[in-house]
Amino acid sequence: MSELKVSSDTSAFEVPAALDHTGKLTQDCVREALQMMDRYGLVVLTGLLSPEEANLGLELIRQTIDDPERNRCAFASETDNRYLRRDFCSLPATVPVTRFAATLCQRLEGVYLEYCGRTRPLLEIITLTSYLGSSHQYIHRDPMGVISLLAAVEDVCEEQGGTVFVPGTHMYSGAEYRHGGAAYELMELFRIQCNWRILLHNLKKLWQMRADAAVPLAPGEFRDRILSAKWDQHQPNLLRFVLGKNNEFSLRMFGPRTLWKLYRQRRALDGLFTLVQAAPRKGTVILYRSDLLHAGPDNRSSQPRRLFGMSVARDVIEPKYWHDGYTPHPKLIAQPVTLGDLLDCPASPLDRTPVPEPRSAALVD
Ligand SMILES: [Fe+2]
Repeated sequence: MSELKVSSDTSAFEVPAALDHTGKLTQDCVREALQMMDRYGLVVLTGLLSPEEANLGLELIRQTIDDPERNRCAFASETDNRYLRRDFCSLPATVPVTRFAATLCQRLEGVYLEYCGRTRPLLEIITLTSYLGSSHQYIHRDPMGVISLLAAVEDVCEEQGGTVFVPGTHMYSGAEYRHGGAAYELMELFRIQCNWRILLHNLKKLWQMRADAAVPLAPGEFRDRILSAKWDQHQPNLLRFVLGKNNEFSLRMFGPRTLWKLYRQRRALDGLFTLVQAAPRKGTVILYRSDLLHAGPDNRSSQPRRLFGMSVARDVIEPKYWHDGYTPHPKLIAQPVTLGDLLDCPASPLDRTPVPEPRSAALVD
């Protein structure tokens, strides 16, 4: 997007995945990944899945999306989901899906166990699929206290909307003392600056779509995305923006003091924080701390962008908080699965690492 300065160089956050004889990340690899996670809030593990394993993940996503009864996500963005600009939905807890998740957890065990105990719940397994005409999400933080994973099951190019991150903006004890004690305030100013540009980008794009036969708007879609009273945090909805009804970005955030600070810091902010867009190759897995600033960009290509996503809690979590911020499949709610369950579960048939029998009945369909 021309209005936002976005770097496509993720090399500073990448670790080539190296596996030991048990099929897990080597200790050196785990150490390096943890350093990235702590310092920047994310790590990009290249080549973690083989092409065959990535194909299996892609097939699971395709099967889910082809199911008219699939469980659609209630977030980011509902309007895009309604008009099939995105298809964010949870994968059912079938044996193949659970084993695919188990393969990832077992391979990444050294990283997961640093942040999440074995009893911590699996919050969701989802697919983040987006199509031409989707909106660019606002820069936001997901509910804190979660380790989230994105797996590229096929090559994702920038035009398809690989996830954008702001490295180093995750929160932890004392993080606010950085940048002369103004870290959180500066991060918020940067977020507002970016989101203003994203609002303009989305509005401009929607206006152009009105006359674009290649991306026809559905009846009512323009109004729903610009002036709807319905809750949606990631549309350029001017009504909710003006009324202050969007927690991610609204006119409420533009008080006189904030405007003055934005003006004074306008150049410094770009020097302090960088937007980095991932364009993961097939088999790459991204792990990030959920409170890291990030966004799912719009898909600007005719090729669907499909990602496999999974989130594991780092602590106990209230069901309301869990269900507000994540989309567990109904079966996962009925039969919760923990990180320990996934570490003990048989992995995908393609993973030749010997593993013990499952302990949890929830893992046997
Ligand atoms: Fe998010």
